[in-house]
Amino acid sequence: MAAPQEPEAQQQKKPSNGSHDFLGLGLVPDAAAAKRGEPLFKQNCAACHGENARGAQGPNLLRSVVVLHDEKGEEIGQVIHDGRPQGGMPPFPNLSEAERYDIAEYLHNEVELAANRGLYKHADTMTSGDVAKGKEFFAAHCANCHSVTDDLAKVGARYPQPGTMLARIAWPANPGPRRATVTTPEGKNMAGVLIHYDDFETTLKSDDGASATWPTNAITVEIPDKLGGHRALLPKYTDDDLHNLTRYLLTLK
Ligand code: HEC
Ligand code: HEC
Repeated sequence: MAAPQEPEAQQQKKPSNGSHDFLGLGLVPDAAAAKRGEPLFKQNCAACHGENARGAQGPNLLRSVVVLHDEKGEEIGQVIHDGRPQGGMPPFPNLSEAERYDIAEYLHNEVELAANRGLYKHADTMTSGDVAKGKEFFAAHCANCHSVTDDLAKVGARYPQPGTMLARIAWPANPGPRRATVTTPEGKNMAGVLIHYDDFETTLKSDDGASATWPTNAITVEIPDKLGGHRALLPKYTDDDLHNLTRYLLTLK
């Protein structure tokens, strides 16, 4: 039976990116920087991390916790600057801070493309994936939060396309109604469902049924990170695991 996971409260410190956070994607990548970062990545990193950062002898960076936690290059930049000499990654002391930032933005943009715009569509034509192995992986890594007879009972009917299913497993963005706690300008906490949340305005329907709207910069919005468990799993999946899980969940109809 799936035990409900205690959500970790995640403070949304940057209301100016509220609407983007709302979709679970973190900060909006800086497109100009990402474009400058691409050739730097190809030249310095692709040999180990793959042409599109999806991994070769070095890890897949689109599922790296370092990359997902990074906001503006501070964590990725550190790894680039210092390397991981023990783990087989050399330091890059000659890349400037600006260049490290550009590479970080390139990676964020790749994550966004993969998560958002269906680069996983190629999975619709994938033929690999082993149902029995997927079932095993699920029992070991997913069953503490999910149940195939309860919340995921008909998940295969909900997402019949392999590409969509794979994206749900790897990037279960949750654009549905999101619960949040708002601290009002008067310092009162209100819990409810976010009706609207962008850089300018926030509307919350509180649990007693009343709706209230504030300028976003006058309040604090706390959204529980329900998907923390998924993020923690990202670095553990291999592509085979994902394909196996996809095949397995597609059988649940
Ligand atoms: C010679 C191969 C090699 C090159 C070149 C290389 N890396 Fe790595 N990188 C690795 C390996 C191997 C690891 C895993 C090391 C570890 O975790 O101990 C790694 C780890 C990382 C991580 C941390 C991943 C995580 O979640 O822990 C990041 C971020 C990263 N590399 C980015 C880059 C960037 C950006 C470049 C180019 C500037 C680059 N790497 C160049 C081999 C390389
Ligand atoms: C720590 C808890 C946790 C773990 C572990 C976990 N999940 Fe989830 N998963 C969630 C939450 C929370 C959601 C979001 C549910 C929602 O939107 O209401 C979710 C959503 C999903 C969805 C989308 C469901 C839908 O109806 O859209 C799929 C598919 C999924 N998870 C598969 C998996 C698989 C496969 C694993 C194991 C590899 C896994 N999850 C591990 C908590 C977890």
